[in-house]
Amino acid sequence: MIIDGTLGGGGHSEALLAAGATVYGIDRDPRALEAASARLARFGERFHPVKGEFGAMASLVPMKVQGVLLDLGVSSPQLDQPSRGFSFMHDGPLDMRMGDQGETCAELIARLPENELADVIYQYGDERFSRHIARELKARLPQTTFAAVDAVKRAVPRGKWPRDINVATRTFQALRIAVNRELENLEAALAAIPQVLAPGGRAAIISFHSLEDRPVKKAFRALCGEGPDQTPRGLPVIRETKADFVALTKKAVVAGEAEASNNPRARSAKLRAVEKLS
Ligand SMILES: C[S@@+](CC[C@H](N)C(=O)[O-])C[C@H]1O[C@@H](n2cnc3c(N)ncnc32)[C@H](O)[C@@H]1O
Repeated sequence: MIIDGTLGGGGHSEALLAAGATVYGIDRDPRALEAASARLARFGERFHPVKGEFGAMASLVPMKVQGVLLDLGVSSPQLDQPSRGFSFMHDGPLDMRMGDQGETCAELIARLPENELADVIYQYGDERFSRHIARELKARLPQTTFAAVDAVKRAVPRGKWPRDINVATRTFQALRIAVNRELENLEAALAAIPQVLAPGGRAAIISFHSLEDRPVKKAFRALCGEGPDQTPRGLPVIRETKADFVALTKKAVVAGEAEASNNPRARSAKLRAVEKLS
């Protein structure tokens, strides 16, 4: 029994099912669930689609499992469909919700005070023009992706636009993370993993940027008893190993050249995995 917490198009679940596993495929996006359920119908009773957030996996899947897999972020169908409002490359409603519930991006911009919006753009986007951008967004209250891109372009002086990425990349990443409460959900999943895994079970998480990778690394290190050393300098250290988990990846696993050129989105992927001891 495996939980695929980010079912998406069902690629990972398909590989797990083909290897003989029973899979609970969780996704908050009803369209992903529908498409993946059709793709995986041939596995019959071994595939269980579940609508919900992976942060709630402990209540969504009422038994201990042998594995938890998370492949974080948005899927290609979400990103590439203008009507979902994730992409600064296509015009569409400024939505950005992975699921069908909660506040859209346009509503989030309208609700947040300017200083809080600036903090979101700074913290989740690492955008140094966050204050200017928040001011423009609040002044214009964009309803479409292109109107939001336009606000960013007006806020960032032309000579300061990045060369390697779109000027709106960081702002869009930040808004997407906030709309979907991505980091809160990740923290909830990291807290749930020790409860849902059976002894000998494994958790593997693929992250795409440091805001995701940092908490995964920290939580996995803590589970493996490798937390930061709190001993004051100069005092003798007695190491006790009473960890319940062991790391399966000493360093994050990254895509090789062949995979990265086949699938450019894999370039920034980092995989970390742990195993619960029996
Ligand atoms: C990168 S895609 C996964 C692709 C999948 N591994 C595959 O093989 O096709 C991420 C998926 O996870 C879903 N997702 C992201 N965060 C989620 C969360 N907190 N709860 C449930 N689903 C989530 C998204 O809706 C999206 O469909």
